[in-house]
Amino acid sequence: MRTIPVKTNPPYAVTIGPGLLRECGARLKEVLPLCRIAVVTDSAVGPLYLKAVTESLKAAGYAAGAFTFPAGEGSKNFSTLSDILEFLAGERLTRGDCLIALGGGVVGDMAGFAAACYLRGIRYIQMPTTLLSAVDSSVGGKTAIDLKAGKNLAGAFLQPAAVLCDTDCLKTLPPAVFAGGAAEAIKTGVLCDESLFALFEDGTLDVDPAEVIVRCVDYKAGVVERDEKEQGERKLLNLGHTVGHAIEKCSGYTIPHGHAVAAGLAVMARAAECLGWTEEPLAARVCACLAKNALPVSTEFSPEALAEAALADKKRAGDSITLVVPRKIGLCELKTMPVAELPPVIRAGWEA
Ligand code: GLY
Repeated sequence: MRTIPVKTNPPYAVTIGPGLLRECGARLKEVLPLCRIAVVTDSAVGPLYLKAVTESLKAAGYAAGAFTFPAGEGSKNFSTLSDILEFLAGERLTRGDCLIALGGGVVGDMAGFAAACYLRGIRYIQMPTTLLSAVDSSVGGKTAIDLKAGKNLAGAFLQPAAVLCDTDCLKTLPPAVFAGGAAEAIKTGVLCDESLFALFEDGTLDVDPAEVIVRCVDYKAGVVERDEKEQGERKLLNLGHTVGHAIEKCSGYTIPHGHAVAAGLAVMARAAECLGWTEEPLAARVCACLAKNALPVSTEFSPEALAEAALADKKRAGDSITLVVPRKIGLCELKTMPVAELPPVIRAGWEA
């Protein structure tokens, strides 16, 4: 079992290891007084883990109810958020109570946003069940839903009270879902850790997931502690996401987040190299690593369509946009440019 502290205000711990869902009630008693808990999950995760979680909560003395919504990015909208909020009110949760996000990135983002809205903010716990949510989205307090105009455009920063990451959940993930998480881990490797990146280079998906999660969370915790509200350094975590979010939007959210980020990372690696922003050739290595992990390195959407979609992105500020540019494996930098320069950058890295 590994525990990584996140020293935000208030601080919390990310606990990573096997068997955590079954023992979540006892674990939570260390950080959460007895209260009502609403477990929010989706139709893919609920049938697998909801019973074990609610039984463990009840055995520890918590009163637990559950809300399940249809799995998929298509549910990440106002309608589902409204249903969750009505559920919380129907369960008569008060400010002393708590919500649990049990699932992947969509569940975590939406349940977290519901926690941030309900009664102007109640506590919530993240219990990630996918590699993507374990290495990235469950840590750092970003919560959101999608709008028609783009991904994650309505949301709030609210740090969870704890993150319990049960590594047993990763054993049964479908390969494509595991690959989506590998994309965020590979992203972290490109950002800060050549040796983490190298773990994925031979394309065997049986790298030690617990070790990968610990390394990604450890890095992310430091970034979030220094820049909780994404005023500077945290923007680096968006490597591959400007184009990635554009791909998701252009696909009508049928391309999963991790796969879109992989293609976005490939576009940025090729663009950076082509435009002379890199210290060493890296695009071929990044693309080979992504491809070996069953991830896409190109997109069917045109540079013009992607640039248009990216202009609705949160990373735009007025007439400028900040991109994350890889300089070498393990080192990236922020580059702010007029939005008019975005289409040629995407075109430089685009490959159908
Ligand atoms: N997923 C990027 C971040 O949490 O900042």
